[in-house]
Amino acid sequence: MPRANMLISQFEQHFNCPPEQLFHAPGRVNLIGEHTDYNDGFVLPAAINFGTDIAAKARDDRTVNVLAVDCNNEQNSFSLDNIEFSQQQMWVNYIRGTLQALLQSYPHITGADLVVSGNVPQGTGLSSSASFEIAILKTFAQLNNIPLDGVKAALMGQQAENNFVGCNCGIMDQLISALGKAEHAMLLDCRSLTYEYAAIPAGMALVIVNSNVKRGLVDSEYNARREQCEAAAKHFNKPALRDVTLAELTAEQANLAPVIYQRAMHIVTENTRTEQALIALNNNDMQTMSQLMAQSHLSMKNDFEITTTEIDFLVEIIGQVLGEQGGVRMTGGGFGGCVVALAPEQLVPQIRATINAQYQAKTGLEADVYICLAANGAFITS
Ligand code: GLA
Repeated sequence: MPRANMLISQFEQHFNCPPEQLFHAPGRVNLIGEHTDYNDGFVLPAAINFGTDIAAKARDDRTVNVLAVDCNNEQNSFSLDNIEFSQQQMWVNYIRGTLQALLQSYPHITGADLVVSGNVPQGTGLSSSASFEIAILKTFAQLNNIPLDGVKAALMGQQAENNFVGCNCGIMDQLISALGKAEHAMLLDCRSLTYEYAAIPAGMALVIVNSNVKRGLVDSEYNARREQCEAAAKHFNKPALRDVTLAELTAEQANLAPVIYQRAMHIVTENTRTEQALIALNNNDMQTMSQLMAQSHLSMKNDFEITTTEIDFLVEIIGQVLGEQGGVRMTGGGFGGCVVALAPEQLVPQIRATINAQYQAKTGLEADVYICLAANGAFITS
């Protein structure tokens, strides 16, 4: 059964009436620009054709009732007048935190009955949580006739993560989920929150490979990287590492703790690579794109230290297939998760065959391969 029909029938069974509307927000894959967002830098993600779907009907009171199809049909009810963190049901906190952020600007919204389902593989660095937050915001904005734009929605989603869920993430995931564009990647300036789109070149496939490495200590390692970056910026007396040049950084090497120097080196060079990648994409220059993605991966491996041996191996074997006809690197926060490749369509079967032949034999894990399309964000208007 198509997902929309499944959602409608679940809603009818659960709430004894049809939903008013269906909503969707996508997950994302980041082509390049990793951990640069919270350094006020540049990122180049695309929204993907996997995301969160919500069937919804407005209520005339302040109650929110939810059925979460993918969490063993767990249910939850709460009042918009009493939003509290749930220790028992982690998934509920994405809804509650997001609505708490929305209520600060729009205190008079009404409750709703919701059925939620998503197909972004969770915990793999493809932003299932950001797609959940943006889908909730789209739902309540639409049901309440609120003129919420994509940037404001993204900031509310980020606020929910930072202040309610407890992850100190940047703005990239929520912004691309809100404002991604079909067949395009987006260069986002995370300081000004301005963005421009770049077409994914014709004939190039967006290949995502889930390493199935279980991610451990992600939040603590993530927050630690963020603190190290902030310490580096502070050393230079600058608001963010965005403002530090490579020459300034190298000149200060002797005065920085080695680990802080390495972290800063990743961010400073990654920002430059990301801006160059936009130009390469626009020029359909896959050779440069290939080199930039390879350098980005090495920088994440050696300087930022967020890859794993399994991920490094995937990047190596896919890179051997691609040569300079395409690029491959780890994508997302790190410590496991996914690899992204921008690959000529005709090489996709060979990439699959290579992974099948080598990955499990080497690591004991099975990888999942997704051929994705760049999709529209939930708040895109044109
Ligand atoms: C996670 C965060 C983002 C970003 C990436 C790393 O996805 O949510 O804000 O920092 O990691 O690039």
